[in-house]
Amino acid sequence: MVPRPRLRYEPRHSGANMEKLIIDGGHPLHGTVRASGAKNAALPILMATLLAPGEHRLTNVPKLADVDSSLSLLGRIGCPSLEGDPIRLDTSRIAYHEAPYDVVRKMRASVLVLGPLLARHGEAKVSLPGGCAIGVRPIDQHLKGLEALGATFNLENGTIHGRCGQLRGAEIQLDMPTVTGTENILMAAVLADGTSVIHNAAREPEIVDLGRFLITLGAKIEGLGSSDIVVHGVPSLAPGARPYAVCPDRIETGTFLCAAALTGGDIEVTHTDPSMLQAVLAKLTEAGCTVTTTPTTIRVKGPERLKSFRLRTEPFPGFPTDMQAQLMVVAALADGTSTIHENIFENRFLHAAELLRMGARIETSGNAATVHGQTRMTGSPVMASDLRASAALVLAGLAAQGVTEIHRIYHLDRGYEDLVAKLRGVGARIARVSDGMNDSEQMSAAMSA
Ligand code: EPZ
Repeated sequence: MVPRPRLRYEPRHSGANMEKLIIDGGHPLHGTVRASGAKNAALPILMATLLAPGEHRLTNVPKLADVDSSLSLLGRIGCPSLEGDPIRLDTSRIAYHEAPYDVVRKMRASVLVLGPLLARHGEAKVSLPGGCAIGVRPIDQHLKGLEALGATFNLENGTIHGRCGQLRGAEIQLDMPTVTGTENILMAAVLADGTSVIHNAAREPEIVDLGRFLITLGAKIEGLGSSDIVVHGVPSLAPGARPYAVCPDRIETGTFLCAAALTGGDIEVTHTDPSMLQAVLAKLTEAGCTVTTTPTTIRVKGPERLKSFRLRTEPFPGFPTDMQAQLMVVAALADGTSTIHENIFENRFLHAAELLRMGARIETSGNAATVHGQTRMTGSPVMASDLRASAALVLAGLAAQGVTEIHRIYHLDRGYEDLVAKLRGVGARIARVSDGMNDSEQMSAAMSA
């Protein structure tokens, strides 16, 4: 039994608002970097522990602000946790069934408590997650699926209040393959009475990882990774016998591979899984990179000159929207003109305006971007707007001639574990400094990197 410690999860990144990254770019990066556990698998898996009373142990959980937020939320629900590897989490007792606005506004994925709390506890209140920088981000499909299983919802003062008795199996047809929508419904269905089928389910590897975790708790699930997931409900679940290892982060992996592509470098990512990012590897190959893989490693050598390409983001196994910003930087430094269509979110080109400041030539119109490649970009002060756009700015800084400053780096802390240390490990001249540092202090910080 996990001792009942005082909540440890005070935001560890509260100072990030006053920090920035300084990058002295234009140097090829070489070396090996280890992928962390996947943020977008860890978050639903943490919430899924609510389905099985007892002590859970999880390994390969990335040290991220979003993981801190999730554990803090679970603590407020009555489930304390203990740092370490494995992380230990005691979900024996649910004392509270709400994800309040102050948590949800920092992390939309808090909405993933809906399915587990309804299935385990019969009631859940979640502050309606507002939109975010990249789009409106509605949750209508989440609610439609949970209603099909027997929940009822009403909206009170911006809070979704769900109630249910014993959930019952149902056939659910999703309008689009929503990732967290599929996850919320899957987590509720595993304790429903009877069989459920989720049609047009999302197929992302993080959903497969969540499903595998649920099966270690005793869930009965078929069709993980396909568009039709079949769930045979069981009366109860219990923590698995062994610590569960979260799958590798394919987006972090792809981000590091782009760093090699952009700097003419040579980077190998270990503890990853090439089968999770085939579309990304194919695009990097098309752009002129040399890609070699083993079952747990991927190595990319960047070419002398990158080649332009056409890119469309699609649900898995198509090209992931979370890698679109990073590939826009590759396009910006390629020979010729590339086109990018963002088909998942309605406003996911915020990084383009910042890349223009660094000399990129990009025109956007609606969900289409035309990128006129060129030989170089120059360092500049830029501002991060969302998690993956921030990663793109870091990549641009690594490739650009001169020094780049990136402000509002708290976005990065949500999704990239030890980013500065990992990049320094492959030769990047990068430093995290206080926003108040003057230029000479900054330069010495960056140069001593
Ligand atoms: C997940 O978000 C990821 N987040 C996102 O990663 C990722 O970009 C996205 O999937 C797409 O792959 C987590 O897993 C925590 P969706 P999610 O529901 O589930 C519309 C990152 O950087 N939609 O698959 O919120 C929606 O507006 C983040 O790590 C509805 O209309 O995405 C969007 O246009 C960013 N109604 C599309 O579906 C709904 O009820 C796909 O959204 C749900 C979604």
